[in-house]
Amino acid sequence: MAVVLKTDLIKNFIADHEYRAIGPAAGLAFALLSSGAGEGNDFVGWLDLPERYDREEMQRLKAAAARIREESDILIVAGIGGSYLGARAVIELLGSQMFNDFSPLKVYFLGNDLSADRLNRILQLCEGKRVSVNVISKSGTTTETSIAFRFLRRMMEQRYGREGAAKRIYATTDSSSGTLLALANEEGYEKFTVPGDIGGRYSVLTSVGLLPIAAAGFDPEALLEGALAGKKRFSGTSIYNNDAIKYAAIRHMLYQKGMTTEIYSSFEPSFAMFTEWLKQLFAESHGKDHKGVFPTGASFSTDLHSIGQFIQDGTRTLFETMVGFKTPRSDLELFELPGDGDGLNYLSGRTLEQVNAVAQQATALAHQSGGVPVLSIEADAMDEANIGELIYFFELVCGVSGYLLGVNPFDQPGVESYKKNMFHLLGKPGY
Ligand code: PA5
Repeated sequence: MAVVLKTDLIKNFIADHEYRAIGPAAGLAFALLSSGAGEGNDFVGWLDLPERYDREEMQRLKAAAARIREESDILIVAGIGGSYLGARAVIELLGSQMFNDFSPLKVYFLGNDLSADRLNRILQLCEGKRVSVNVISKSGTTTETSIAFRFLRRMMEQRYGREGAAKRIYATTDSSSGTLLALANEEGYEKFTVPGDIGGRYSVLTSVGLLPIAAAGFDPEALLEGALAGKKRFSGTSIYNNDAIKYAAIRHMLYQKGMTTEIYSSFEPSFAMFTEWLKQLFAESHGKDHKGVFPTGASFSTDLHSIGQFIQDGTRTLFETMVGFKTPRSDLELFELPGDGDGLNYLSGRTLEQVNAVAQQATALAHQSGGVPVLSIEADAMDEANIGELIYFFELVCGVSGYLLGVNPFDQPGVESYKKNMFHLLGKPGY
């Protein structure tokens, strides 16, 4: 197991003396983060989480996940932002985008938008099925989640009665305050904790992500073991012995050269939701004071036939981070066809994933020669341990990058603006 950063395709964009120049600042940013002396330091609990996570809660979580699997056909996970993306990203990366087509327990995510159509359709899917609900909100007051949960609660209580519903509703929230905590206490829902010192987008390896992930049939402790391996691997204190610091430094140098958009790309479609998680992690952490690299994503080779043209040849403000896995989950060998009607016989004997790897290599070279710095991050396999390490790596990069940029990577003041307008327009008391 190892997450590795490859930088051979950015040599034309960053010179050795530039690494030497940024080295001390990058080392300092890491020191600020790891010593807990930086801004937002009351939200760095994720740094030590792989060592100090609550073992008793983990046992309860595994028991709840087993119960959900045994008692349900459908698990509805209601949450948004950091209370949603991580779980879905990991489930789809481990179980593919077609997870629900193969799994006996279907997992649907609600409360991450205000679409009546989606809510209605998922409520319809629940008809005649055994259902459990995991409502996740650190604050307990997020509108999208609260509205979805109001409808879910009604459905559950109509179907199972108030007491029966309470046995099938699991609430993941702050341990000391909030509306959801009060409701969970009143109704007797089993509670799981969002630790006070871990913000939403850094919380996937807490019960926020791990309860749905475990219910989906994956191993929560193996994810934490992977994160622990990442903590050890990325413990060096300089750009020369820690790839997380090096990557953060490179992002910053490219940003200073006017490359203000980072595209996370992957040739593995199951990575698409992980890209969404990355987008939130970096955008919400860095987009402040009119600064920051704008994170976006591409799923290849699909998107080579849509935004590929722009990446190759459009406005030159982009750099790209390709994320891949050494060992594919499965493979297929291409075979000889008599007559070679489709002209593909030249590929026979090679596997589809070999072709995919060549496509990645060819794309990286093309983008680099088109003026796009291309970084690559490679993990060994699409399993819990590697994904846990990948999560820890990106969280670390995000913290270090934020301090290099001079922002607090752990708050999100900008998210409030739309809420204030919406509440005012909806006539919420006090707005
Ligand atoms: O990263 C964050 O802090 C946010 O994305 C939150 O997770 C999101 O707004 C949901 O908040 P809550 O868990 O309080 O419902």
